[in-house]
Amino acid sequence: MAMAERNAPAIGLFNQKSLFCLFLTTSILFILSWFFVLRSTGHSHFIDHNLLPNSKLFALIDNGNSEPQSQSFNQPSITNGPVVIEEAPQENKLVDCNPNKVPLKVFMYDLPPEFHFELLDWKAEGKTIWPDIRAKVPEYPGGLNLQHSIEYWLTLDLLSSEFSDRSGARSAIRVHNSSEADVIFVPFFSSICYNRFSRVMPHQKRSKNKLLQEKLVRFLTAQEEWKRSGGRDHIILAHHPNSLLDARMKLWPAMFILADFGRYPQNIANVEKDVIAPYKHVIRNFVNDMSDFDSRPTLLYFQGAIYRKDGGFVRQELFYLLKDEKDVHFSFGSIQKDGISIASRGMHSSKFCLNIAGDTPSSNRLFDAIASHCVPVIISDDIELPYEDVLDYSEFCIFVRTSDALKERFLINLVRSIGRDKWTRMWTRLKEVEIFFRVSVPIKGG
Ligand SMILES: *[C@@H]1O[C@H](CO)[C@@H](O)[C@H](O)[C@H]1NC(C)=O
Repeated sequence: MAMAERNAPAIGLFNQKSLFCLFLTTSILFILSWFFVLRSTGHSHFIDHNLLPNSKLFALIDNGNSEPQSQSFNQPSITNGPVVIEEAPQENKLVDCNPNKVPLKVFMYDLPPEFHFELLDWKAEGKTIWPDIRAKVPEYPGGLNLQHSIEYWLTLDLLSSEFSDRSGARSAIRVHNSSEADVIFVPFFSSICYNRFSRVMPHQKRSKNKLLQEKLVRFLTAQEEWKRSGGRDHIILAHHPNSLLDARMKLWPAMFILADFGRYPQNIANVEKDVIAPYKHVIRNFVNDMSDFDSRPTLLYFQGAIYRKDGGFVRQELFYLLKDEKDVHFSFGSIQKDGISIASRGMHSSKFCLNIAGDTPSSNRLFDAIASHCVPVIISDDIELPYEDVLDYSEFCIFVRTSDALKERFLINLVRSIGRDKWTRMWTRLKEVEIFFRVSVPIKGG
């Protein structure tokens, strides 16, 4: 969830390293503001990130990589030429810009359980609102539902932030006085609500998904906290591209946590205020990955659904361009539950994994590739990536413009031109950054 703008709020506490970080960021901000003046009408997400008003949220969470930052603004490099990869920087340790670990103070509304854990079939006893997660953590429905489970992980992290023995990173803590909070968190599990309750049941006029959204709007707009800020310091989850479709039109001043902006008008959601969060990968992590360039027999791997819209056209064209290449695996059909171990084996034994835009610009395939240490080849012109301010994706991903990818032999020549050394550097980097995309309760490290 880290985003740009590090005008660190707690300067007094900082040591030399932080001052260096601050200096670096200030310089970058200066350069960027200059760029922005030049390109104020253009659409560039790197610039937009740095004009965020919600600086505190991002400044605190950010503990990334300051060395490659200056480069990261030149990417994701959707390239024209055949060779895409930049030389990796020599020093590539993750620099910590928040060494004092000043946690973000988060006030969480005690929304009735029907908005969150009851959607997971947890039953509240009496007037309790939250499950006792020390005793048992309610499970999130599995399979493809898990892709959009960020709502669940963030809520659990806030609940567990109050345990005194909590180990690991404490980037956010729950506070009970909203006047002392930096941000206000709205624990509505909108993605699972969309997935499970969109259908109108026989006795209903409207679906539960619609009813809960209406209730949420009524609740929020009546709160003191909302009136105080007009909603601007509120964090609302809508990771599934179809979730919160009605309420978002009324709650847009808030910061949304999204998978991408594909289905959003620009005035409702944009990089200036919102946060792109990763999908939870469905492929198994590659633990103790001892593979190398030669031991991964498949050159390029793609497994995915076919769509009738724009994305489907690109997928089909690529299929015809690649189908006769012996070491390319390209097949249609989304990964079902029993297919996960087959797909895991496939991605764990491939050098490169394709990530092609589907009916929206993002998909969990990128995060599956990262978990598999299979170098992602991203063909999605409008993709927005999580943690773009602290991760330089060009170090471990290859970006190809759709129009280039559709040229005869362009993609296959590009991928074949990447030799063992370059591939190994990207693979090594994937193993370093995968921690950014891992979830657990409580959230550990990184
Ligand atoms: C909440 O915090 C504010 C600001 O620190 C303080 O004035 C107020 O008394 C607090 N309210 C409660 C109920 O503790």
